[in-house]
Amino acid sequence: MVVTGKVRADSRAPGIPGGFEIGVTGLQIVQEAAGEYPLALKEHGVEFVMDNRHLWLRMPSQWAILRIRACVIRAVREFLDTNGFIGMDTPILTPAAVEGTTTLFETPYFDEGVVYLAQSGQLYNEANIFAFNKVYCFGPTFRAEKSRTRRHLTEFWMVEPEAAFCDLDQLMEIEEQFVSHIVKRALEQCTPELKSLKRDLSKLERISPPFPRISYDEAAKKIDQLREEATDPEKKELLKFDWGMDFGSPHETELTKLYDKPVFVYGYPTEVKAFYMEPWPGRPEVCKSVDLLAPEGYGEIIGGSERISDPELLLERIRQHHLPEEAYKWYLELRRFGSVPHSGFGMGIERTVAWICGIEHIREAIPFPRTIKRVYP
Ligand code: 4AD
Ligand code: MG
Repeated sequence: MVVTGKVRADSRAPGIPGGFEIGVTGLQIVQEAAGEYPLALKEHGVEFVMDNRHLWLRMPSQWAILRIRACVIRAVREFLDTNGFIGMDTPILTPAAVEGTTTLFETPYFDEGVVYLAQSGQLYNEANIFAFNKVYCFGPTFRAEKSRTRRHLTEFWMVEPEAAFCDLDQLMEIEEQFVSHIVKRALEQCTPELKSLKRDLSKLERISPPFPRISYDEAAKKIDQLREEATDPEKKELLKFDWGMDFGSPHETELTKLYDKPVFVYGYPTEVKAFYMEPWPGRPEVCKSVDLLAPEGYGEIIGGSERISDPELLLERIRQHHLPEEAYKWYLELRRFGSVPHSGFGMGIERTVAWICGIEHIREAIPFPRTIKRVYP
């Protein structure tokens, strides 16, 4: 429908951004609907709205979330572009795994046999820093995640900054500045959208550096304590934890409830992390990794680490992880032709948007989500 008329400011007028009304003088029908609109402003089942994602996008909540997503992406690029990071696109078709071999999507590739859809652009970023110092890639990443959780998509967008001459402490500083900047922009540019989602803005207004930093060992102790204090037997069971395990969603959820800002957990066991992470000096069972866990139970939004510099150690790790050496030849060469301490991280856009919006499930944080059970529409 095309509406003509005189627009006038009226602060009472609802909507986002609101504040305007039209004194209508003409209406023109452009298209007559094929029937009743399949969606209404009421509760529908999840599968139903997801089947109708192409129409659901027009509903106020979805409209608000996706405008916030666009703002987050603008803020991501703005921060990196104005802080000396050069945007470098990395390939999506790749012969090498980055984050383990269990979540690879394979695709046939001419005479090469199979290649994979990128799980991360990190390895290429590590080549890029030796030419450009500080870089980032930002694009879709793919994981054949077998788990059906509210935090996992099979196709998600990740921004990955990487910096030469950067250690774990410096990395955490960049991350806390970066995340705080994004939240600040969301508050500046999307307060009406956030309010329409009934987001508690005071929780976002607190997000400023520094963020608390705890080691994996300390986090493990806190989880033990939470488990002891838990009265609900089901929760007790979910919080079971032994040193050496990776944190699951229930652990992260309970841990982050202890803080009102995102919390860094650093120094994870080498066993549960990717092959490229620098060992902790004097404690090879631990690595120089750091995850950033968002508050209010949201959990990991960033994973990062200092990278191994020593080519011999790197080769040993590639072998330990049963990765095909041939595909990593160039990556090893980066260490043979001049290498410096370097670090980087990856932030998942959908998890970040879900946290900022305060929504339950990350499937609403991307226009057309892909999960283990869904590729339609
Ligand atoms: O911790 P991850 O696996 O780290 C990497 O991929 C590194 N190579 C990044 C780097 O150092 N350059 O993933 C990073 C982030 C996670 O913290 C999470 O926010 C997001 O990517 N992520 C997912 N988001 C949605 N669905 C999934 N299946 C995700 N897997 C990871
Ligand atoms: Mg991770």
